[in-house]
Amino acid sequence: MARKIGILTGGGDCPGLNAVIRAAVKVGVEQHGFEMFGIEDALSGLVDLDYRGPNGNRWLQPRDVNQILTRGGTILGTSNRSDPFRFVVKDAAGAVHETDVSDRVVENAKKVGLEGVISIGGDGSMRIAQRFIDKGLPMIGVPKTIDNDLGSTDQTFGFDTAVGIAMEAIDRLRDTAESHDRVMLVEVMGRDAGWIALHAGTASGADAILVPEIPYRLEPVAKMIEKRRAEGQKYSIIVVSEGAKPAGGEASVVEHKAGAMPRLQGAAQRVADGLSKLIDADMRVTVLGHVQRGGSPSSFDRILATRFGHAAAELAARGEWGKMVSLRGENIVSFPIAEAIRKPKLVDPRGQMCEMARALGVSLGD
Ligand code: F6P
Repeated sequence: MARKIGILTGGGDCPGLNAVIRAAVKVGVEQHGFEMFGIEDALSGLVDLDYRGPNGNRWLQPRDVNQILTRGGTILGTSNRSDPFRFVVKDAAGAVHETDVSDRVVENAKKVGLEGVISIGGDGSMRIAQRFIDKGLPMIGVPKTIDNDLGSTDQTFGFDTAVGIAMEAIDRLRDTAESHDRVMLVEVMGRDAGWIALHAGTASGADAILVPEIPYRLEPVAKMIEKRRAEGQKYSIIVVSEGAKPAGGEASVVEHKAGAMPRLQGAAQRVADGLSKLIDADMRVTVLGHVQRGGSPSSFDRILATRFGHAAAELAARGEWGKMVSLRGENIVSFPIAEAIRKPKLVDPRGQMCEMARALGVSLGD
């Protein structure tokens, strides 16, 4: 009898998810004779086997994954509010509660006959995967996130594309900033890790980069703007991670719904408001938001995601459950998921990238 392997995408989407699905399905079916079960909307499809997302759970054939390598999003749908250990349900009165439906997931996986599940997700999905492994439902992890904050891998796919999108947006903003002698603030994604801000800011020659790992003071940023003006550069570009916070303060949370991470927004506006008390400047704020998560993956992300999908199917073939595929230097390797989630990968305020930025005169707000 054919081995049955589930595959799902969890957490926020990012460019490259479809490339992983394509590679894992092609290799799983064509090389190993697996039957591949696509689970809809993260684990929602295993909480309820009749769950209907856009397409519902379905067996995937190689023909179903033709032409998806270049497409953003995910053909399986995803969710960052469907953790079965704290699943959100509404009661008859419309009140929202969190409840543990993880046993049902394990039972449903057995009903379908799944040997295990390939879970493509970020740190949240990897933590959930580990809890299911501990409950006896085997999983293999594939690390994705535009934030690039997962431990045990040099890079997650999605990050390179997001940095490219942010860089291009900042390049465009520079033209208009220069024309109007303005200070332009750009808010990019990055909840706990400032990788997108640091890389996109460096790639586009930003004048200040504020990341969550370095609580900022506004005085050095204002000083940088004044110095540039004195040198004849009448405009400045400031890149702000959504999770950036002032020294002694907290990140800008706009909403916190049950079963979801707090939603961050307003970090750049807060910087602009603070700066307006220190300097006289015409300022504009642009929030890039989910634009950074959509669209066709870059060549780097297509290749990395394809390598990850291939490696995940090979791990399943060898029965090496409980592991996460990972990029180390030139090679795809694997680590226990438990190890990968031990510590997030954050920007090191004293690391090479930050020291180089400071040496180039970029204000990091410290
Ligand atoms: O984790 C990726 C990420 O893009 C974060 O940078 C951001 O805070 C979050 O997802 C936004 O999630 P949502 O899609 O729920 O707004």
